[in-house]
Amino acid sequence: MTELIQKLPTGYSFRKLEKSDYNNNYRETLQVLTDVGEISESQFNELFDYWEAANVFHPHVITNEKGIVVAAGMVFFEKKLIHECSLYGHIEDIAVAKSEQGKKLGFSMIIGLSEIAEKAGCRKVILDCSAKNIGFYEKCGFKEAGHNMNKVFV
Ligand code: ACO
Repeated sequence: MTELIQKLPTGYSFRKLEKSDYNNNYRETLQVLTDVGEISESQFNELFDYWEAANVFHPHVITNEKGIVVAAGMVFFEKKLIHECSLYGHIEDIAVAKSEQGKKLGFSMIIGLSEIAEKAGCRKVILDCSAKNIGFYEKCGFKEAGHNMNKVFV
């Protein structure tokens, strides 16, 4: 992860999410992306255990020089039938704390998650984003491909 380490400010680290991050600004960081809602510590631990057991979900964080979570992101893998049973990486839920934006943490998160996907053997890594973030993902080496569609149930 040479490119990532070079870009991170001194004292900042990219690492896997830990259970103790429940009390370490993880939920608050994701709040810049969307409404997180009330999540109890036991709900968080249950979700963490589900992610671990599935061995598909790889939530990561960037911590600052005090060890506090200031950026969050997830990559997960999907084994498809197409392209000879290819593995695809999906990047989701990227968030950088407001006060930490503009320090290349978002870029570092995307580089780090992409490298995890590449090392795992993914054919490619894909994500959805709003129009206002297209420029950011282009800076991270992504190309626009298709349109995002959804149907909301709740
Ligand atoms: N449009 C165009 N360029 C941008 C944007 C943008 N919205 N945001 C950052 N950039 C540029 C920067 O200027 C920088 O350019 P440079 O290398 O020429 O100096 C480069 O992209 C890297 O920027 P970072 O400093 O790494 O960006 P930051 O750490 O602020 O993270 C992010 C960007 C993740 C979009 C952050 O602003 C954020 O958390 N926003 C709110 C939540 C959000 O929208 N998350 C993404 C949702 S999409 C998803 O989750 C798959």
